[in-house]
Amino acid sequence: MIVVRSPKKAHKICVNKKKKGKTIGFVPTMGALHKGHISLIKKCKDLCDFLVVSIFVNPTQFGPKEDFKAYPRDFKKDKKICEEQGVDLIFYPRVKDMYPEGFETYVEVEKLPQHLCGLFRPGHFRGVATVVLKLFNIIQPDVAVFGKKDYQQLRVIEKMVRDLNVPVKIVGGQTVREKDGLAMSSRNWYLNEDERKRATLLRKALLYGKKLLLQGRKPQVVKTEMRKILKKANGKIDYISICDRFTLDEIKEFKKDCLIAVAVKIGRARLIDNIEVEK
Ligand code: PAJ
Repeated sequence: MIVVRSPKKAHKICVNKKKKGKTIGFVPTMGALHKGHISLIKKCKDLCDFLVVSIFVNPTQFGPKEDFKAYPRDFKKDKKICEEQGVDLIFYPRVKDMYPEGFETYVEVEKLPQHLCGLFRPGHFRGVATVVLKLFNIIQPDVAVFGKKDYQQLRVIEKMVRDLNVPVKIVGGQTVREKDGLAMSSRNWYLNEDERKRATLLRKALLYGKKLLLQGRKPQVVKTEMRKILKKANGKIDYISICDRFTLDEIKEFKKDCLIAVAVKIGRARLIDNIEVEK
């Protein structure tokens, strides 16, 4: 396994692999790798000849009051995990490699970020789309895998790739959970014991919401019922959304499928989770 910090060097290695007819698979991450990331790495491994993982805590996707500095970082542990998973290359750039002085070009998907997390994290998806396009240009992947845990992010990336003719196949990976249902997340590190217990209410609310929708209850009623559960988490509910799976527009009637998504701040951790509902 190679570890490369320079974008130029990483690009050169990947282009050479492609010239030799190898397909490149890519899993972008911010490190602090857990079983969720590992499931994406495994999925990607089966889809390519040369597997690249990037580890980069991207400053442009964090708001000024967000946790960029506090975000967990443990490169040694991440490197070991990647080695065990048969990753071929870790791209581990420094902030100044990705955003040299004078950087001023950003990618903005217009409508999708005007929903869900985008409303609470202005500029977040602009930062995500920008860094992901930069990473794609450096690594030149044939296929890239993103988790459904960050459902809106997956949709933003799909939209960007389609709108800008980026020749990368985007694949979604299922959310990996703890035994009690809590979606794995690097931000779970912030939870103390009591907060960790309360965090399980996100999944409970989602499962209950799904059950009610399938019983024919109206989305508005379902959201009210879910709020009752989420209130017990004693945190700040950012949103409870029942929306179209592609546009993320709120729906008033449940027809054949939809997404239920929630975001709740518990202690220092802003937790998000979602569930797809299909008749
Ligand atoms: P990060 O939060 O490290 O997540 C990297 C990838 O892992 C994302 O595609 C995310 O959806 C996926 N992931 C996170 N938790 C998961 C879980 N429990 N199950 C399955 N997949 C999970 O998302 C980012 O980094 C960044 O925004 C990035 C795309 C790297 C751009 O900076």
